[in-house]
Amino acid sequence: MNTSKTKKTSKTKKTSKTKKTSKTKKTSKTTTKIIKQTTLTPTNEPKIHPKNTLNDLNGREWLKFLKSWYVFDAIKSDLNEEREITKDSDDHPATFSPTMIEGFVNFFTKKNMTVLDPFAGIGSTLVACDRNDRKGIGIELNPKYVSIIKKRISKNQKILKKDASKISKLKLPEIDFCINSPPYWNMLHKIDTNQQNRIKKGLSTKYSENTNDLGNIANYEEFMEKLVQIYFQIFDIMKPGKYMVVIVQNVIMKSVMNPFAWDLAIRLSKKFILKKEKIWCQDHKNLYPFGYPTSWVSNTHHHYCLVFQKPK
Ligand SMILES: C[S@@+](CC[C@H](N)C(=O)[O-])C[C@H]1O[C@@H](n2cnc3c(N)ncnc32)[C@H](O)[C@@H]1O
Repeated sequence: MNTSKTKKTSKTKKTSKTKKTSKTKKTSKTTTKIIKQTTLTPTNEPKIHPKNTLNDLNGREWLKFLKSWYVFDAIKSDLNEEREITKDSDDHPATFSPTMIEGFVNFFTKKNMTVLDPFAGIGSTLVACDRNDRKGIGIELNPKYVSIIKKRISKNQKILKKDASKISKLKLPEIDFCINSPPYWNMLHKIDTNQQNRIKKGLSTKYSENTNDLGNIANYEEFMEKLVQIYFQIFDIMKPGKYMVVIVQNVIMKSVMNPFAWDLAIRLSKKFILKKEKIWCQDHKNLYPFGYPTSWVSNTHHHYCLVFQKPK
């Protein structure tokens, strides 16, 4: 009795195993077919698709940009370009390489389209626009940075020495794309190793002393509310269906992790469609042994490039 029971069970097991394998094979075949269709078709397209309303990229270039992460460290040619024009560029505590911004500008716009950066810093977005025949508009509060920008750009770009919280009063034209990086709350007020090194070199550790500078607002809720209201004003001047990229990080203050990037994504979703993030990884920054030898404390070497779209 016992034997027969065992036999039956083993037979059933065998059958079910066989069935499962054949099912798996079928699924994997279908998956291969789908991957081939979605990856190979656009990469084989050497010309711009006649129905491409977003950018001037061919299928191969388009596909390359869809990866959800990238590694980028400031490149020498960009740094040299900054320093040739002005000796002061190191004085801004948080700038980007125009080359990195070019990737976004070229994906989200066509030639001659209008790009806004409401936190222009020393002008990486405007330089990226200049290099690629886009019409950039920058807004920057600090007159020192505005004068640096003016030395870096051609007459095709526009820089306004204004407070971004007054955008609706600036009579700006309709915008095809907005890319920017706001102050990461008042993170620069924290004197960490990097800031100590800047102090030793006699460089600024903050953007300014101006009370309208968002980087000087200590209260998180007040800071977030002001920032969100700036983006909602930008929403009103963006063309329907167009995109905005905001480059941010989560912030650790007094050992507490403040999910600034995620919080901003949620708050802006009230008006914008949150599309997804592209993660910018930096691979050449110093690693410090924070927390060693008792606890895990991250060296944050990545930023979130949050991609939003105004509904059509
Ligand atoms: C993270 S930095 C931007 C750096 C810029 N992406 C670059 O590569 O040079 C933020 C900038 O926002 C500016 N800022 C802060 N509050 C502002 C406001 N209310 N209106 C306009 N600009 C402001 C700061 O002066 C600072 O230059």
